[in-house]
Amino acid sequence: MTSSLLEVAGLHAGYGRIPALFGVDLQVAAGEIVALLGRNGAGKTTTLRGIIGLATRTAGSIALNGMAIGRRPTHAIARMGVTFVPEDRGIFPSLTVRDNLRLGRLAGNGRSGDEADAVARFPILGERLDQEASSLSGGERQMLAIARALLTRPRLLLLDEFSEGLQPNIVRELAAGLGEIAASGVAMLLVEQNARLALRVSARCYVMEKGRIVDEGPSPVFLADDDRLRRHLVV
Ligand SMILES: Nc1ncnc2c1ncn2[C@@H]1O[C@H](COP(=O)(O)OP(=O)(O)OP(=O)(O)O)[C@@H](O)[C@H]1O
Ligand SMILES: [Mg+2]
Repeated sequence: MTSSLLEVAGLHAGYGRIPALFGVDLQVAAGEIVALLGRNGAGKTTTLRGIIGLATRTAGSIALNGMAIGRRPTHAIARMGVTFVPEDRGIFPSLTVRDNLRLGRLAGNGRSGDEADAVARFPILGERLDQEASSLSGGERQMLAIARALLTRPRLLLLDEFSEGLQPNIVRELAAGLGEIAASGVAMLLVEQNARLALRVSARCYVMEKGRIVDEGPSPVFLADDDRLRRHLVV
């Protein structure tokens, strides 16, 4: 698949000398939502961290639009349009919502959108601009994290545990938002404990086990196959 936005092949990565990934292969096409599933400790977060250079990459290749990024530092990969939203959302709690958004603009290196774009997508943030981020609800924090990530004008969002700690109605609202964001041309690699949610919003999925991809396919096929889901995942 040479037309992939992201192409990871044979990726080995870990933490210092401790290996966690043993040859991960995956692709994400432009504007595509891809789910990355698997049990605790399977290597999902490490895969995201490996792609943006926050885990030690020891072998394999990572290409963005055909350009090798496997040896580039994190900031350079971010400038090429890959934005990571970590499990803790990476928000600065003692800064205001506005200042958190400004940090997103800075990270965008001149290509960024502005505050108005963020507020247009998540109007509630417009009412909270001068509040400390620590005062936001869990759902608002996730909106801030995604809004800030979008200000960097990414081509690929890496979202870790997107729905964690959020109420189901907020998750539904945000999940619908992800579909719209993808439709605007932003691809996503979505790590989720909630496999059904991830499968509903994604086009394809990969399942990891012990640092390897052990299954993959179109998400609707997985959703319709309870045995396959149960074999791999906690559902
Ligand atoms: N900072 C670290 N230092 C050393 N080993 C780590 C570190 N972070 C994770 N690991 C190890 O790497 C392996 C993969 O962990 P990873 O966090 O990628 O799993 P995960 O699939 O994201 O799990 P979870 O669903 O619990 O978030 C595990 O064996 C874990 O113990
Ligand atoms: Mg994880």
